Amino acid sequence: MLSPRLIDELNLQIKYEMFSAQLYLSMAAWCADQQLDGFVIWFKAQAEEEKFHAMRFFEFIDDMGGRVKMTGFEDPQGDFESLTEVFEYSLEHEKFVSKRIYHLMNIAQEEKEHATISFLNWFVDEQREEEKSFSGVLQQVKRFGGEGLYHLDKELSTRVFTPPVIA
Ligand code: FEO
Repeated sequence: MLSPRLIDELNLQIKYEMFSAQLYLSMAAWCADQQLDGFVIWFKAQAEEEKFHAMRFFEFIDDMGGRVKMTGFEDPQGDFESLTEVFEYSLEHEKFVSKRIYHLMNIAQEEKEHATISFLNWFVDEQREEEKSFSGVLQQVKRFGGEGLYHLDKELSTRVFTPPVIA
């Protein structure tokens, strides 16, 4: 049985993952306004991935006999100065999410809650990938302008989110 503190913190993570989806859709909308169609596809796929993360927390809390609680959040930022700002902002957001996962892991370890530790291990690895992915695109955006950005936009348009099979 999970402690009330752990249930509250895991529920809070559903909110942050759903906020991430909302933020990335907001970024997709900004990219659409800039006619960056490949970036729109990339951010929409990212938003799907964030909803998948949120649902993993939802199902885990429920499986462990906890009460899932959905809570709301403020509007995500919708205006940006440049594509570089979009990716700097999103990379910072991912770093924040990584800190949240570490925070959850610290509580689970403190409480010797091994099922939760095992569940969170997947997210520790996932956050490393997420930061790498955002950081990689940020570097490319900074390096390529003009014509190069057109090719990057084309490359990002191939992204598809396929939910991973988790053992
Ligand atoms: Fe679910 Fe991008 O962290």
